[in-house]
Amino acid sequence: MQHGVESASLGRDASIPVTVVVLAAGQGQRMNSSRPKVLQPLAGRPMLAHVLDAAEALNPDALNVVHGHSGEAVRAAFADRDLAWTHQAEQLGTGHALAQALPSLEDGNRVLVLCGDMPLVSAASLERLIEQTDGRGVGLLTATVDDPSGYGRVLRDDTGSVVAVVEDADATPEELAVKEINTGVMVLPAEAARRWLDRLDRTNTQGELYLTDVIAMAVADGVPVCGVPVADAAEAIGINDRRQLALAERAIQQRYSRELLDRGVTLADPCRFDLRGRLAVGRDVFIDVGAVFSGDVTLGDRVRIGPNAVISNSRLGDDCTVHAHCVIDGVIAGSRCEIGPFSRLRPGTEFDEQVKVGNFVEVKAGRLETGVKVNHLSYVGDTRIGRDSNVGAGTVTCNYDGAGKHRTEIGERVFVGSGSMLVAPLQVGEGATIAAGSTITRDVPPGTLAVARKRQSTVKGWKRPTKRES
Ligand code: UD1
Ligand code: MG
Repeated sequence: MQHGVESASLGRDASIPVTVVVLAAGQGQRMNSSRPKVLQPLAGRPMLAHVLDAAEALNPDALNVVHGHSGEAVRAAFADRDLAWTHQAEQLGTGHALAQALPSLEDGNRVLVLCGDMPLVSAASLERLIEQTDGRGVGLLTATVDDPSGYGRVLRDDTGSVVAVVEDADATPEELAVKEINTGVMVLPAEAARRWLDRLDRTNTQGELYLTDVIAMAVADGVPVCGVPVADAAEAIGINDRRQLALAERAIQQRYSRELLDRGVTLADPCRFDLRGRLAVGRDVFIDVGAVFSGDVTLGDRVRIGPNAVISNSRLGDDCTVHAHCVIDGVIAGSRCEIGPFSRLRPGTEFDEQVKVGNFVEVKAGRLETGVKVNHLSYVGDTRIGRDSNVGAGTVTCNYDGAGKHRTEIGERVFVGSGSMLVAPLQVGEGATIAAGSTITRDVPPGTLAVARKRQSTVKGWKRPTKRES
């Protein structure tokens, strides 16, 4: 899964270069946050990352981001991408934002304007907008929604042609009743944009330079304006506040869960599923409620994930089962492993096949070979455990001496009795047995029994103290 980005066919007139300009300079006051709005996370990534993915999928000739509020933080978050940046020192409105980027654009280009706060827009809708708009005309991506409040309304004449966009704050009661909204995406010729933006003024309720005013200017100049609806109304969600962020989060998760269902995954409840990264799946995977996946996760065929599992950056082989309430991060497991319930597996952990790790077991940087069992209440850190070894309940590899970390090497077919402390650095040879309750501080040779505990003494006729009456 590609972060939910659809692939798009490039059917547009390739002779006209397309420059994408993403408006991302606003502070996002309605978020009530010290973090710039376009860096608020959606599905685990800054919302601007989703917009950039959609833009990049179009293969534009150039991709320019207008930044301003907390601009350095925004730039730094995308340092690894090939982007041109334009600074908007003062946020005077969307029209002013686009005007800052125009000097770097050549006449003859088409400008596709995107907003950094509409992360659900799909590359396919953008492609359709470009295709359906005449190269010399203006295209507006629109959506018809049940609740249009807050959005600019698209006004059409009796023939259905777009004549203007009016902002929510400036609209008359009749205009407010219009349910077709401006998504914020527009495509227009660079030279006409320059002309129109020069003529914008701030005589509106918000005192801003509205990009949307260019629609009426285009109509007045006899330039065709084409309103193109999005395929799915969720694409139009513009995020100005936390409620819209929550709405968009659910919408993107629904999109991901639909994709997974289509791939043959069974989701116990598609409404209780969260993906904050990429998830690759084999056949007949089952995912119970409340699972959270982040980073890059791969699940093999017939993997079963129990309720409330948190899994990040891991690869689980065919037929693995993760029982309820496990936290798994940075793990590679071979086929038929069984994990949990209540296991915590930390980065650097590798299981071969048929490894079993049970309740309240923590493994950090542990390599567990085929058939190893650590079934209950143990800590295994910086350790290799050989094939078919069994680690009893309550075993601890004491890998830290207060200054440095040390390794424990356990051979094949070792039996570690319950309640053992294995003080690293330590080597336990093949086939060795460690008696329950031992504190092992020296290497255990292969095939031996190590008992490292005080012998039991038994007192005959022992009288248990009794409580005194007070
Ligand atoms: C805007 C549209 C509205 C549309 C809605 C869709 C205008 C005037 N209004 O309203 O018609 O329905 O989006 O979500 O265009 N930005 C800058 N510099 C600025 C101002 C804004 O870069 O000076 C950026 C913001 O970071 C944001 C985007 O432009 O990513 C849109 O600005 P925002 O303030 O969210 O506009 P809306 O009120 O949502
Ligand atoms: Mg907005």
